[in-house]
Amino acid sequence: MLTIAIASLSGGQGKTTASLMLGRLLSRQGYPTLLVDADPQHNLTTYMDLELQANQPTLLEFLKKTVLAEDSIYPSEGNDNLFLIPADDQLDTVRLSF
Ligand SMILES: Nc1ncnc2c1ncn2[C@@H]1O[C@H](COP(=O)(O)OP(=O)(O)OP(=O)(O)O)[C@@H](O)[C@H]1O
Ligand SMILES: [Mg+2]
Repeated sequence: MLTIAIASLSGGQGKTTASLMLGRLLSRQGYPTLLVDADPQHNLTTYMDLELQANQPTLLEFLKKTVLAEDSIYPSEGNDNLFLIPADDQLDTVRLSF
């Protein structure tokens, strides 16, 4: 499995757009692709047209280890190879200890 992180300290540099385009491209080329929205702004989740109900797990629940990874993975509409772990605005409440 190849993992690609798209990150920048600057805002508005095209991180979300690049992530979405790369995800669509790779998945349409036949690579099963999991997008992970790690931004509390959750624009990627919005762009993927995923409408979450209040009790549905996101990346936050996975990071807090209250759900298994697979329970926070959602399929995308009309593309069998593209999946998303969504975020919501609660993501910035997470405190990780290593
Ligand atoms: N290659 C591009 N050419 C032209 N416009 C672009 C390109 N990539 C992104 N944009 C536009 O630039 C703006 C910022 O893009 P995007 O939201 O992807 O940035 P971001 O780095 O994720 O921002 P943020 O830091 O707020 O999360 C958006 O309006 C987007 O449509
Ligand atoms: Mg963004």
